[in-house]
Amino acid sequence: MAEELYIQAGVGKKETYEILLPQLASLITGENDLTANLANISAALNDTFHWWWVGFYWVKKEELVLSPFQGPIACTRIKFGRGVCGTAWKEGKSQLVPDVNAFPGHIACSSSSVAEIVIPIFDREKNVVGVLDVDSERFDVLDETDVYYLELVCKMITNILNQESQIKK
Ligand code: SME
Repeated sequence: MAEELYIQAGVGKKETYEILLPQLASLITGENDLTANLANISAALNDTFHWWWVGFYWVKKEELVLSPFQGPIACTRIKFGRGVCGTAWKEGKSQLVPDVNAFPGHIACSSSSVAEIVIPIFDREKNVVGVLDVDSERFDVLDETDVYYLELVCKMITNILNQESQIKK
């Protein structure tokens, strides 16, 4: 596709995702480099939603390791079960955290981030291979609609992982 994102102004969140998702699909389809695809997905999400931070952590041995992202510098490594990201990895379940102060063990990479969503990314054997992390500096931005569509984004990533060349060790 052309390296230009079409973002329609003045429409709701659901419609914004509906416009964005096919563009993400065409952006990553046919490209077999995982890092390039994760980089473009995080850039497209950032261009669309302007969150505080959006990006990926990837499972490497016993830790999640910082991978392509958009936003300020962030913690490089997160242990299994630690913080919101490590919890999403351990439980294999999306985490919607409307107030990070209420999440025991939350890892504060930035004091500006007050709300967070983390979505696990699975391989074809249903192992968690990474997570998508979104942070907001506002309490009223992230909700179940984001979880629903971000899970679809992560399913797209699972689908491209089926191309063997994309499995990043
Ligand atoms: N807050 C996350 C750590 C990652 S950063 O927010 C980018 C957590 O608790 O896992």
